[in-house]
Amino acid sequence: MAVQRPAAAPRGLEGVVATTTAISSVEDGKLQYRGYRIEELAGKAEYEEVAYLLLNGDLPNKEQLRDFKAELTKHRTLSPFLREILRQMSESGTAMDVLRTVVSASAVEDPGEGDNSHEAEYRKSIRLTAKLPTILATYIRRRRGEQPVPPDQTLTHAANFARMAGLDEAHPKSAEILNTCFILQAEHGLNASTFAARITAATLADMHAAVTAALGALKGPLHGGATDGTMKMLDEIGGVDRVAAFVERGFATKYKFPGFGHRVYVTTDPRAKFLRAFAQELSKGANAKNMPPYFEIQERLVEEVNKRRQFPVNVDYYAATTYTYLGIPADLGTSIFAIGRMAGWCAHIMEQHGDNRLIRPESEYTGPTGKRWVPLAER
Ligand SMILES: CC(C)(COP(=O)(O)OP(=O)(O)OC[C@H]1O[C@@H](n2cnc3c(N)ncnc32)[C@H](O)[C@@H]1OP(=O)(O)O)[C@@H](O)C(=O)NCCC(=O)NCCS
Repeated sequence: MAVQRPAAAPRGLEGVVATTTAISSVEDGKLQYRGYRIEELAGKAEYEEVAYLLLNGDLPNKEQLRDFKAELTKHRTLSPFLREILRQMSESGTAMDVLRTVVSASAVEDPGEGDNSHEAEYRKSIRLTAKLPTILATYIRRRRGEQPVPPDQTLTHAANFARMAGLDEAHPKSAEILNTCFILQAEHGLNASTFAARITAATLADMHAAVTAALGALKGPLHGGATDGTMKMLDEIGGVDRVAAFVERGFATKYKFPGFGHRVYVTTDPRAKFLRAFAQELSKGANAKNMPPYFEIQERLVEEVNKRRQFPVNVDYYAATTYTYLGIPADLGTSIFAIGRMAGWCAHIMEQHGDNRLIRPESEYTGPTGKRWVPLAER
């Protein structure tokens, strides 16, 4: 008797609950980290507090935060080995390729290599979270032909990144705004990069392997790559008066407008309203004067797209212009996203290893069967 096989899951695993998690949830369009709604954290917390929350399960008290920050600042510096890879890659590598490669290379220096215990992974999480901003800032400086600026132990995660990348000179509020952006992007359930991390971790591969997989997935234009994609699209449109024609052409050619649509949110992405407010405020500032009217183009684009079909704008849409107005080059938005997301990835990897089972679904075969071997001379 033929074995009964279950029907294939929906395409893209839409609606499939693939695991349990205590890290974050989206219910009725509300995003919570460890039980705190994002509105409770954005604009109030420091990124370090949220990273602690994700990794430990609750917000730190004063002493816990002091110790956590001390550990983070201690591990910001890069070794000569990583700095040399960065020097070579910064000439022609894209930011996401550089982040993925340098994080992967940092595995060879991991003092806890081979140790997937909770304690060892907690320390790895701190080292990876601490180092990623230094990796990106070094890349940013290098490709501008400048020397990297060493980390400043007295500054917060966001302020130190802004200083190392030269963004504090480009905009006085860069650290404050980036801090909130990092929080908004820190965690989001079983999104593609986190799922990639958990699948990798579930083979009992280590945290560096899992984070490297996550960075690979984040690059794609259907995921974090939509931040850079949004800026490309806005530059292509070029002016408010060209939006309607662009949208018409887009729908005619089944173009996927970057920054629109979401698998989980139907009406609004709760993170977008914070980012829209930043983009709107920054669009009135000095940096915006020498740029195309990006925010106005975005607003018209939302109107024109929604006339034809309702899509929520997602986290990437206004993050893209927020970063651009802060003086961040248009192709670096996705890599900024990665800085915030690192704590979320690490929390998921620890959760996976804490109660692990291999993630290994099946596929429904749709190809031919029963074919016979034909010798090469007869093919
Ligand atoms: C996010 C995203 C990948 C979700 O994908 P999904 O849940 O698989 O949804 P689908 O791609 O199947 O889209 C469903 C329908 O909406 C349309 N659609 C979804 N997002 C769209 C977009 N941004 N622009 C135009 N059409 C879109 C699809 O073409 C499809 O239309 P159809 O029913 O006529 O075939 C998708 O909305 C998208 O590609 N957005 C743009 C990239 C982006 O911003 N990614 C960042 C996500 S945080």
